Amino acid sequence: YGLPANMPALKEIADKHGLVLFEDCAQAHAAAIDGKHVGTFGTFGAFSFYPTKNMTAGEGGMITTSDPEVARKAAMIRNQGMEKRYANELIGLNNRLTDINAAIGRVQLTKLAGWTKTRQANAAFLSANITEAVTPFVPEGYTHVYHQYTIRLEGATGEQRDRFTKALKDEYNVGSGVYYPIPNHRLPSLAPYAPGLDLPNTEKVASECVSLPVHPSLSQEDLERIVTAVNAAAKAGA
Ligand SMILES: Cc1ncc(COP(=O)(O)O)c(C=O)c1O
Repeated sequence: YGLPANMPALKEIADKHGLVLFEDCAQAHAAAIDGKHVGTFGTFGAFSFYPTKNMTAGEGGMITTSDPEVARKAAMIRNQGMEKRYANELIGLNNRLTDINAAIGRVQLTKLAGWTKTRQANAAFLSANITEAVTPFVPEGYTHVYHQYTIRLEGATGEQRDRFTKALKDEYNVGSGVYYPIPNHRLPSLAPYAPGLDLPNTEKVASECVSLPVHPSLSQEDLERIVTAVNAAAKAGA
């Protein structure tokens, strides 16, 4: 959602066991821990430029790495496995970002810092004023870039949460999203790899989460309406 995981702790585990650490930074452009950006902790970080992300290139993404060999291999894999033309070293794909997409991305990049500040200010207003739900926790030293501003309705079942989001929409015209309502271990694609796995905390959180608007185009009036809607609908136990 835009808040880094505890990367120093994960790095320690990876180093201890000789594991490769790579970072899914798809929702976390410019997120950081003590000023160190995500995408610089692991062997590589992968960023998404899908249209809904904090910045977009229309489609596509980016890998960051400080390892020249990883950079070379990634560049080859995206270009049909070749560095030298027609001397394919690897079996690659055509994963090239088009120049048109890259041009969009370069302009978006110049706006990212400003948009991120606005997202953070919007989130600060929501956190200061939402009293009837659990608001995002940001550990000391962490920079949350609020790709999503996600609250929890503590103890809510999936049905209660869905009634809450319906009330936000029907009564206050506030849109909201539920990302990943089905935990990975329950997805038809992944469940066969984890037969009988019981993850009660994961399932609890999956049914309690709701993401609220936090994007940089929100007006003060929008923010106030979101707060009013959330507090009223949560209090009503919608
Ligand atoms: C956390 C996370 N990982 C990976 C992806 C995949 O990124 P993309 O759509 O650019 O392949 C997304 C978004 O779609 C995402 O939100």
